[in-house]
Amino acid sequence: MKKYYITTAIDYPNGLPHIGHAYEKVFADIVARYRRLRGEEVYFLTGVDQHGQKMQQTAEAEGVNVATLAKRNTRKFLALWEKLGVEFDGWAETTSDLHKACVQRILSDLHDQGQLYKKAYRGYYSVRQEQYLTEKDRDDAGNFGPEWGEVVELEEDNWYFKLSEHAAWLREAVSSGAFGIRPEFRKAEVLNALERAGDTDLCISRPKERLHWGIEIPFDPDYVTYVWFDALINYISFAGYRKEDGAPLPDFDGLWPADAQLIGKDILVPAHAIYWPCMLHAIGIPDDRMPTLLVHGWWNIRGEKMSKSLGNVVDPDQLADRFGVDALRYYLVRDIHTGKDSDFDLERLVMLFNTELANDLGNLLNRSLNMTKRFLAATIEDTPHDDEECAALRSSLEAATAAYRAAMDACDLPHALEAINSHVVHCNGFAERNKPWELAKDEAARPRLAAVLNHLCESCAHLSVLLAPVLPAAAAKIQGQLRADHLATLSLDDLRWGLLPSGHTTGKPKPVFPRIEVEEVA
Ligand code: MSP
Repeated sequence: MKKYYITTAIDYPNGLPHIGHAYEKVFADIVARYRRLRGEEVYFLTGVDQHGQKMQQTAEAEGVNVATLAKRNTRKFLALWEKLGVEFDGWAETTSDLHKACVQRILSDLHDQGQLYKKAYRGYYSVRQEQYLTEKDRDDAGNFGPEWGEVVELEEDNWYFKLSEHAAWLREAVSSGAFGIRPEFRKAEVLNALERAGDTDLCISRPKERLHWGIEIPFDPDYVTYVWFDALINYISFAGYRKEDGAPLPDFDGLWPADAQLIGKDILVPAHAIYWPCMLHAIGIPDDRMPTLLVHGWWNIRGEKMSKSLGNVVDPDQLADRFGVDALRYYLVRDIHTGKDSDFDLERLVMLFNTELANDLGNLLNRSLNMTKRFLAATIEDTPHDDEECAALRSSLEAATAAYRAAMDACDLPHALEAINSHVVHCNGFAERNKPWELAKDEAARPRLAAVLNHLCESCAHLSVLLAPVLPAAAAKIQGQLRADHLATLSLDDLRWGLLPSGHTTGKPKPVFPRIEVEEVA
C-alpha cells in the first residue's frame, strides 16, 4: 500500500518560529494523525531551510558563525514542535549531508542532460527575496516596490536551468489537474501567473564571492546553489530520491508522489507552482507521479501582515505556556478557513476554548461521568433505547461523524471541528431535556436513566476518537476518564454504537479543559 505522504514548507530558522509556522505544522500534524485514524500508513516530513543569503546576513549582523546560527535556531523550531505535539516521521535539514548529496546528484544529472547553461547577467537583484529582477517587476511608477527590500545592480556569470522548455507542459499539467493545486481558486491564480511569466529561465547559482552559505555546484566550485532550488529538493531528497545504498531514508517508489504539500499562499508562485513542477518534470518524474499542493492562507494581526519590523509577531511558545497547548492547537485550525486569511485574536482564542471546549465538551464529559458514577455505580447498562430522543441522538452522532469525515478528507479543519461541536451541543440539549437527575429519583425510570447515560457516555467515547487528531493529549485524558484506553487503537471504520459495552465501568471526571479566566488576556 502506498503511504500517505504529507509535507510542509520548510521554515527559515532565521529567528524564532511564529504562529504562521505553528499553524502550518499543527495543520499537517492533524492531517497526518487523521489519515492514520483512517487506517492509512502515513509519512509526514517537515524541517528547516537553513541556507541562503538571509541566514548569512543575519549571522554577519550578529557576529556569529552562520552554521552556529542555523543550528541554534533550528533547535528552537524543534523544541516548539515537540511542545505543540507535532509528531513528524522525517526531519529535513538542508545542511545535512544526505540532502546536499542528493541536490548535487540532481544538478549533475541536469547538467549532463543539457538542462543547465552558464550566461552573464547584468541587472537588478533583490537582496531580501534573493531574486534577480526584470523590468516586469517594476510597479506602475517604474520603481521596484517595498516588497523587494534592498535592490542592487549586479553584473555576474551564473548557471541557469531551462525552465522555459517546460512552460508549455506546465500550463497543460496545471489545467488538466495532473499537477494538483488546492483549493481550486489558487489554480486560477497560478494559470494567470503563467500567462504573465513569459518564458524566462531560472538562475540557479550564486557566486561564492557574494554568498558562501549554500550547496556547492558540483561542476563549478566557484558557485553555490540558489536557496530555492536547494530547498524544494527536500521533498524528494528526504523521501529517498537517488539515495545512497543503506541511507536511512524511505523507499522513494513506495512514498512518492506527495499527497499533500502544505504551503502558504506567499510561496505558491513562482517557487512551488512554477519552479518545483518544472524541476520534477526535468528530472523525469511522469505526470501521474506529480504531487498535490495544498495552499493555506495567512494569519494576520489586525489585518496587517506579521513582520519583525512591525513588532507584531506572535510567539506560539509563550501562547502555549499561557493558555495551554490544547487551546493553541484548537484555535490555530478552528478560526481560519482553509485557504483564506484570518486575524489572530487572543479574545477569540479564549472565547472558542471556553465555549466549545470548556463549556460544551468539558461539561458534557463531566456531567456524563458524574451522573453515571452517582446514579449507576459508574456502570454502563445497555437498556432498551428505541424512543425518539435516543434515536435522534444516534442520528446526530452519525451525521456529525459523516460531516467530520467529509471535512477532514477535504482538509477542511474548521468544518470538521464544527461537526464535532454540533454533536456535543446536541448531547447537552439531550441531557437538559431528559433530566437524568430527575429520572434518578424514580426507581421505575431506571431503565430510561441507564439508556440516557449510556447515550451520553457512548457519545463521549466517539467524540474522543474524532477529536484525537486535533487534540491528542486531551483525547487521551477523556479516554482515561472513560476507562476506555482501547479507544486509542481504533480506526475510523471501527466507530459503531457500543464502544462502551454493557457492564463497562467508567472512571472519575476531572476537568480536561479548565476555563481560561478572562482577566488573563491582556
Ligand atoms: N523556507 C521557505 C520555504 C521553503 S519550502 C521548500 C519559507 N520559509 S518561511 O519560514 O518564510 O515560511 C514557512 C511557511 O510558513 C510558509 O509556508 C509560509 O507561507 C508560512 N507562513 C509564514 N508566515 C505566515 C503567516 N503569518 N500565516 C500563515 N502561514 C505563514 O518560505
